[in-house]
Order: sequence, then C-alpha cells, then structure tokens
Amino acid sequence: MTDSKSQRYQFFDQHPEVADFREDIIQGLSAAEAYILPKYFYDETGSRLFEEICNTEEYYPTRTEVGIIRDNIDDIVETLGKDCLLIEPGSGDSYKVRLLLDALRPIAYLPIDISRRYLQDEAQKLAAEFTWLKVHAVCADFTGKLELPYHVEATNKVAFFPGSTIGNFLPEQAVFVLDEIRKMVGRGGGLLIGVDLQKDSEILNAAYNDKEGYTEQFNKNLLLRINRELGADFDLDQYKHHAFFNEEKHRIEMHLISLQDQQVTIDGQVFQFKKDQAILTEYSHKYTVEHFQQLAEKAGFRCVKTWIDENGLFSVHYLNLAADSD
Ligand code: TRP
Repeated sequence: MTDSKSQRYQFFDQHPEVADFREDIIQGLSAAEAYILPKYFYDETGSRLFEEICNTEEYYPTRTEVGIIRDNIDDIVETLGKDCLLIEPGSGDSYKVRLLLDALRPIAYLPIDISRRYLQDEAQKLAAEFTWLKVHAVCADFTGKLELPYHVEATNKVAFFPGSTIGNFLPEQAVFVLDEIRKMVGRGGGLLIGVDLQKDSEILNAAYNDKEGYTEQFNKNLLLRINRELGADFDLDQYKHHAFFNEEKHRIEMHLISLQDQQVTIDGQVFQFKKDQAILTEYSHKYTVEHFQQLAEKAGFRCVKTWIDENGLFSVHYLNLAADSD
C-alpha cells in the first residue's frame, strides 16, 4: 500500500531573507567591476525561463546529459547502489531526476532550490507522479552551508548535481561547493555530477545566444526582479545581453551592457553606469575531464566512473569519498 501524497510530501523552509538580496545587489553593483550573483536569476519567472533555455535547439547540454543518463542507466544505478537518500542541490523542475527514480528507488528524494513557489509546485507534481516516493523539499541557498533538514543515520547519501551548475562557480568556489556536498553525503555517500566540456567556441557561443531570445530574457529578468523586489528603476531597453566564450579562461561570460550613460536608484542609493559598461551576471566554466577530476580531488572526492556522449560534448561523473578525507 502506498501512503497518501500528504504523508509523502514535506516542505522545509530555509529561504534567505529579502535583506540578503538587497545587500548582495548593492554590494555587487558597487564593486569596481559590477556583478550580480547568478543565484538571483532563479525567481519563479527565471526558473521558468531557464526551462525554455534548456529546450532550445542551441542549448546542447540538457539533451546531451539526458542522453548520457539514458544510455548508461543500468551502469549508473549499479554504481550508485539502491536505497540511497537522493539529494539534489538546485533541483529546478526535477526533470532529470525522473530518469533515475524508477530504476534507483531511493528511500527519499530531497530537492533543494532557492525558488520557493517553483520548488513547491515542482516537488508536489513529482510526488503525485511517483506514488511510492517520499519527497522532502528544502527551500535553501545551496551556495552557503549545506545542511540536511533532519538527521539521517548512516544511509547511503547520494547527491545529484546535473546541468553543469558547478561550472557557474569560479574554480576555487567550485571546490568549496564540492567540499560542502562531500561533508553532507559523508563516508559511504557519493555525488553524481554533470560537467560541460571544452569544445569549439561556435557551439558554445550559440548555446548562450539562442535565436528565440530566451537567454536574453533570462538575463534581463534580473533587472526586472530588482525593480520589482527592491523598487529600483532599471530601464530594460537600455541594457543589452552579451554572452561570449573567453578562450583563455575556458568560460562563457554573460553580461548586461549599458547602452548609454545612465543612472539607477535602488533603495535610495544611486548607481552610475557608463555607456558600454558591463554588469557581470554569470560565468559558465568548461572543463576537460582531467581538470574536473583534479578539482574534485581538491575537495576530497575521488572519481569512480565517468560517462561521456559519443561526440565528447558533456560528461557525467560518479565521485565518492577519497580514503583519507574526513
Ligand atoms: N548551468 C547552466 C550553464 O552554465 C546554467 C545556464 C545555462 C545559464 N544557460 C544559461 C545561466 C544562461 C544563465 C544564463 O550552462
């Protein structure tokens, strides 16, 4: 017998405060090289726009990663082991985890996402769809300290971190994020992670400049969000989306470029932007398999297995704890 959905679905709220958002925005826009932290992309509109990006023809990572998981599902499930507690930082629409659930049969699934309403909707949909699954949704910012909402005794804890989200951090921050995940899953646990690979810059540039303009809308939604939540007065028509592959640093850089000299008021504070001045909104680092594995080792992980598509576009790795890590 399956228990009712209300017993299987639980929600834990560790959402950051509005004050944190205001402080982070003011600090970022006051910096010598202005930036906005990419986690702020994901309000409800941003999360929905991101789903659209994933479905565009140019954005190869999602379908490639899905293909890798589908093609290797038996091997992946055998490597992860049954009866795990499956934790997904930045779960979004929980689309990819659906590929694993029936085969993996985890004891519970814990999606963690910063977008509260979106997470609640998506997690409840999932609980309705998988009538045997316990879904414990956690609204939190996983870029800080990662803590499970309840104590779990020595189970096999597996984190699932697809989409090359790890690439959105600078390499040294990525080590911190991986280290937090390692501490959360502990000994006996592991991490299934998707990492985008270095490739021809034409393919990369196209992926972050889709013809339909979803990436542009997604980028500009940051300004809309600041206007709405912090009462600012950004004029969206006076900023342009700009994304390009930086060959030297092996990363996509995404910016909003000011089209003229202008000023914006946020919470009574005035910010000046010169014509052509950039606000950095996101990096997406591209790795080689070897470089990613070195990064994982710095965080105390060791690579158990790697799966790659036939065109060498994207990689999925299973990592567990190195013998000498705590
Ligand atoms: N992790 C995804 C990536 O780096 C996130 C992403 C894809 C993204 N497209 C984007 C983030 C466009 C911001 C804008 O590919």
